[in-house]
Amino acid sequence: MIDLHTHILPSIDDGASSWDESVAMCRNAAEDGCSVLVATPHQRHPHWWNDDLAAISRLRAELQSRLGPHPRIVLGAEVRADVAILNAVDSLAGEPMIQPLANSRYLLLEFGTEAGPEPEAVVHEMSIAGITPVLAHPECIPWLAHDLERLDNLVKLGALLQITAMSVLGDFGRGPRDSSHNLLDAGLVHVMASDCHNLEHRPPGLSSAAALIERKYGSATATAITITNPKAIINDHAVSVAA
Ligand SMILES: [Fe+2]
Repeated sequence: MIDLHTHILPSIDDGASSWDESVAMCRNAAEDGCSVLVATPHQRHPHWWNDDLAAISRLRAELQSRLGPHPRIVLGAEVRADVAILNAVDSLAGEPMIQPLANSRYLLLEFGTEAGPEPEAVVHEMSIAGITPVLAHPECIPWLAHDLERLDNLVKLGALLQITAMSVLGDFGRGPRDSSHNLLDAGLVHVMASDCHNLEHRPPGLSSAAALIERKYGSATATAITITNPKAIINDHAVSVAA
């Protein structure tokens, strides 16, 4: 499996707080069946701006060297959609301020819990710019989570949807669980990731949620959202269908 959304780089956001925790999270993920982890520190977040891409890249390299070859760590970011996000997307053609997923055309995009820029406009403009936004955990965004029609429209406008494993399992409560299952029922989920932040409360691992999805929705769906689609994204290939 490939985990497309993780906070495994140490002391850069609200994720891993030390190299020891960072390494342990990666080893746990590997034992749980993940061969590739995409490190996605927050960017453009009010608390973690993180626009020094060279510094982030050095953290990735250091983590990989501490781990050895497995699991493979590739670089991405979880980019907050603020009012100037489209300027940041424009910067990708020159001196980037934001980090796409594995330097692909895909960008992990997070909308805040408060209303911000119109997601339809952001998704549409990004698509025109050749960037495919992967919307992080819509099931956890209160103003979006239960609006299936709006989420369906965002997918039609060019977005992909990433749900979080703990949501599927019900670890965040009934709301995110029901929303994530409704999205699966509607065939609107492209990726499931851990969004792991630490070892204890937001741990790595996809296997438990993948097993639940396999039982409820079948193995083709579980494979698509944990292997096939995230692999296509980090290889910059087209993701053709939702699960
Ligand atoms: Fe995250």
